[in-house]
Amino acid sequence: MILVTGTTGRLGRAILNHLTERGASVVGSSRSGAGGTRAIDFDRPETISLDGIDTLVLVSAGEAEDDVVIARHEAVIAAAERAGVTHIVYTSLAGEGDHLAFALAHRWTERRLGQGAIPWTILRNGLYADLFGSLLQWSGPELTSAFGDGALSAVTREDLAEAAAVVAEQVESASAAAHTGRVYELVGTPITAHEVAARVGAPLVEISLEDRRRQLNAAGLKPFQPAMLMSIHTAVAHGFLAGTSPDLATLLGRPPRDALEAAADAARASAP
Ligand SMILES: NC(=O)c1ccc[n+]([C@@H]2O[C@H](COP(=O)([O-])OP(=O)(O)OC[C@H]3O[C@@H](n4cnc5c(N)ncnc54)[C@H](OP(=O)(O)O)[C@@H]3O)[C@@H](O)[C@H]2O)c1
Repeated sequence: MILVTGTTGRLGRAILNHLTERGASVVGSSRSGAGGTRAIDFDRPETISLDGIDTLVLVSAGEAEDDVVIARHEAVIAAAERAGVTHIVYTSLAGEGDHLAFALAHRWTERRLGQGAIPWTILRNGLYADLFGSLLQWSGPELTSAFGDGALSAVTREDLAEAAAVVAEQVESASAAAHTGRVYELVGTPITAHEVAARVGAPLVEISLEDRRRQLNAAGLKPFQPAMLMSIHTAVAHGFLAGTSPDLATLLGRPPRDALEAAADAARASAP
């Protein structure tokens, strides 16, 4: 039996749907236990029951301060060890993302898995194309960008979900050895803010990192979020997230979906 965590979230739900379509024996988990999912709240370790689960697809748990995310992941991995889970597939962050403010919790989790006894597979997910599109803010009829000429090897959630389902299904159906101890770099094709704006058909106005930070600080976000989002801006602007890898296409058995269109869709969705 496969258990996918975070199936109220967009990535976890899509992984669950792909596995269900493939006829896998699979269950989801969510904090609420809604929709036939197991009620598991990582912040309450006593709720984490993984009995009867062979393959755990651990979708990284939300956005929060590092100590909170790390405590959540520690609680799930410890529960998996107690329950006799035989393989953990973890959705991590692309290797090039080390400069991002939220990288540490992912790398901590990778290290924890490496030191543990359960065989594992790391899916190092690139940044979502729709996230990139949504970070281009509208100012009247114009899109604004603090990404400069930098490119992001963006990837659609749908492709990441399908790749995770492929790995989990193969692990579960006794092909675990092929994926054990493997680290997959699931990034897409580099796209720029200029290309997204051109696809949307909107003029692009470049703004500075300082101006974007000022906007984010005034936006009423959670305390850690402006720094987190600014780290994406500066990493893209300075060319740290534009690397490519064949891993995603190899797992999917086809080229990845069009990340530029997904980013443009997200920008269109917030148009005034
Ligand atoms: N690659 C990227 O560009 C990118 C961007 C943003 C985030 N991420 C990471 O990728 C993950 C999945 O992305 P997504 O798009 O599916 O995010 P999402 O739609 O925001 O879903 C987040 C999921 O995390 C779950 N979660 C949060 N706190 C939890 C807790 N204490 N116990 C159990 N579950 C908890 C949520 O469950 P509830 O609904 O029950 O709260 C939800 O299912 C995120 O959580 C984040 O770590 C990646």
